[in-house]
Amino acid sequence: MRFGIIGCGRIARNHVSALRAVAGVEVTAVADVDGQRARAFAAEHGVPDAFEAVDDMFAGGLEAVSICTPHGAHEAGVLAAARHRVHVLCEKPVALDVAQAGRMVAAAEAAGVRFGVVFQRRFWPAAQRIRAAIEDGSLGAPVAGGIVARLNRDADYYAEPWRGRQASEGGGVLMTQVIHHIDLLRWFMGPAVWVSGRCATLVPRAGIDVEDTAGAVIGFRSGAIATVQAGTTFQPGLGVHVWVSDAQGRTAGVMEYPEGVGSADVWPRPGAEVGDLPLGAIHEHLVPYHARQIADFVAAVREGREPAVTGRDAVRSLEIVEAVYESSRSGTAVRLAGH
Ligand SMILES: NC(=O)c1ccc[n+]([C@@H]2O[C@H](COP(=O)([O-])OP(=O)(O)OC[C@H]3O[C@@H](n4cnc5c(N)ncnc54)[C@H](O)[C@@H]3O)[C@@H](O)[C@H]2O)c1
Repeated sequence: MRFGIIGCGRIARNHVSALRAVAGVEVTAVADVDGQRARAFAAEHGVPDAFEAVDDMFAGGLEAVSICTPHGAHEAGVLAAARHRVHVLCEKPVALDVAQAGRMVAAAEAAGVRFGVVFQRRFWPAAQRIRAAIEDGSLGAPVAGGIVARLNRDADYYAEPWRGRQASEGGGVLMTQVIHHIDLLRWFMGPAVWVSGRCATLVPRAGIDVEDTAGAVIGFRSGAIATVQAGTTFQPGLGVHVWVSDAQGRTAGVMEYPEGVGSADVWPRPGAEVGDLPLGAIHEHLVPYHARQIADFVAAVREGREPAVTGRDAVRSLEIVEAVYESSRSGTAVRLAGH
């Protein structure tokens, strides 16, 4: 299967190695709005063709493409894939807002191409165990759940011009980091029907206008309730805890520490030296789970079935994030369709 990659930045490296690990998949082309970056990336990774214009890349003949551009450019990439009738796997968050995401889902469906969105944390064995336990009844339907995300993002992270700005990132800790964990919570707890929340930028940093702190309550169609506390202001960043609990109080959780690795429920010992991880190390931790999701996407295309995480799934987590923002602005709870 001939794959192309659009966007030759940090996460595209994970896609190259994960795609190459799947039998019968080749990465034949890359494209980047910065043509020099595309050529350097292609040379470094041994990819035959590099393009500046996305349509030129499709003209070379591809069966599938990965979208690894900043959030705001995901829509253009997915629409181009649909136009060229090429299957598409898009990085999270699917888009800057639900309206864009809806157009992407509609375009992929109209073109008859598979549309998957990367939420590789679903492929953590710990997360899969929780979902399987809910499915086989060894854990009852969750009545409560929660996310506590104590993360750190430093000045180097925000030096990337598109990050930290509402216009290009669409949001902060919820939109870019905790949308992964909101996706997990939805996967465990089912459709959400109302959201109430507050967001703020509490640590002044030059040029940052997205939220670095958020608190939210999410109500589910089942009647279950979850709480979310999230921030990128913690030093050191102590990772993320996602948990659910059933009517008998049986509780299952997944602890993400170090960031990128979903492990058992353990916190670093109080007083132990814990340094912050460089972003490169976080991306390294993601590799095996990116590999599992990308292998699933390729299998879905080959078997003519839906991928594990579809564009429609990704719209649902984005709806929750958008509803927290709306609730924070309006001061009232926001109802969701809950479909
Ligand atoms: N799944 C994960 O855990 C995970 C981790 C990190 C990043 N991501 C996602 O991956 C995406 C990219 O993040 P990154 O850290 O690799 O960003 P980055 O800034 O390192 O790289 C983005 C690349 O896209 C290129 N680009 C920008 N606009 C483009 C366009 N219109 N057409 C073609 N190329 C374009 C840029 O020149 C750059 O090379 C984001 O949406 C981010 O949320 C996901």
